[in-house]
Amino acid sequence: MKYIRINSFKRLFFFGKRSFFGEEDVKSLVNLPLDQHPPRPSWKCFSYEQLFDATNGFSSENLVGKGGYAEVYKGKMNDGKEIAVKRLTKTSRDDERKEKEFLNEIGTIGHVCHSNVLPLLGCCIDYGLYLVFELSTVGSVASLIHDEKLNPLDWKTRHKIVLGTARGLHYLHKGCQRRIIHRDIKASNILLTTDFEPQISDFGLAKWLPSQWTHHSIAPIEGTFGHLAPEYYLHGVVDEKTDVFAFGVFLLEVISGRKPVDGSFQSLHSWAKPILNNGEIEKLVDPRLEGAYDISQFKRLAFAASLCIRPSSTWRPTMNEVLEIMEEGEIDKEKWKMAEEDDQVEEFWGFDDLDYDYNSSFSMSFPDSTGST
Ligand SMILES: Nc1ncnc2c1ncn2[C@@H]1O[C@H](COP(=O)(O)OP(=O)(O)O)[C@@H](O)[C@H]1O
Ligand SMILES: [Mg+2]
Repeated sequence: MKYIRINSFKRLFFFGKRSFFGEEDVKSLVNLPLDQHPPRPSWKCFSYEQLFDATNGFSSENLVGKGGYAEVYKGKMNDGKEIAVKRLTKTSRDDERKEKEFLNEIGTIGHVCHSNVLPLLGCCIDYGLYLVFELSTVGSVASLIHDEKLNPLDWKTRHKIVLGTARGLHYLHKGCQRRIIHRDIKASNILLTTDFEPQISDFGLAKWLPSQWTHHSIAPIEGTFGHLAPEYYLHGVVDEKTDVFAFGVFLLEVISGRKPVDGSFQSLHSWAKPILNNGEIEKLVDPRLEGAYDISQFKRLAFAASLCIRPSSTWRPTMNEVLEIMEEGEIDKEKWKMAEEDDQVEEFWGFDDLDYDYNSSFSMSFPDSTGST
């Protein structure tokens, strides 16, 4: 375990050197005029005492979320700044893998900078592993959309959330120094600022993809049930289109207010597919909106979702194309017509597939309604 930590930290602290960038990347960065250099990471190392004091000794009252391998506590620094501290939970099994994911998260999120990506403020490596983020006082999209006790989110806010998330994802795929595939896009990993700007979080599964590779084959297959693209689920193939599929499911979730996998064990995308194909898209809208939505915006989102969840990854749009469809302008529907056989819904998974054991190459979590994971 020490080995992983030491080497991973070496890589992190040598950011900008050849171990992190390819030679070409370094050359092109060096040749950039100063004002075009990507922003430098500004995160710092916190002491354990600082985080202990800020979270009132990691008290249970300050616990705001629990994920697959971490607990998240809210805290307040001496200067009044509110923070979220993600603490790696200690379990006897799989420690090394979790530690890897944790370090992976610092390595990836520590070098990105976009208004729709949750900013990392720093980390701490004394007495455990801790990541420090800006606090989202509003919480995750999952916690807002599925909490029956809360008023339903209005259409304008839902629209803002999906557009912002699409912009953040487009940035990860195309706008930052390295292609980043998030691999776990879902409502509980999209946090909201006080003005409901979405921020993509939880980079534990994120992967950098070298620019010359079309895709990457990955084992174990990790992610969240109901969001996995068929080529990833079946063959471990990961590229930007894996995230596009998950984004399509997220889009459907925000439009419909339904969970990716509901109590009847039907996935959201297999419920929505025939509705989209038959053009009965009004059936998708969350009934809690009581008809209060912008029909032309809704049509755009529904069309984008129908393309994102296509079984064939080559027929899915890029996030740039998704944005074009969701925002203003003419939609070229002809361009997106595909042969019927390419749209056959392959029953690529069912609940029987969940009978995997932990030693197999699957590691999946379930979407839930607690606002965690
Ligand atoms: N910065 C934050 N502000 C507020 N809540 C957060 C923050 N980061 C995470 N959370 C909460 O904690 C949960 C788990 O965090 P996450 O980073 O997704 O961990 P995991 O990788 O274990 O899923 C999230 O779903 C969210 O509810
Ligand atoms: Mg999570």
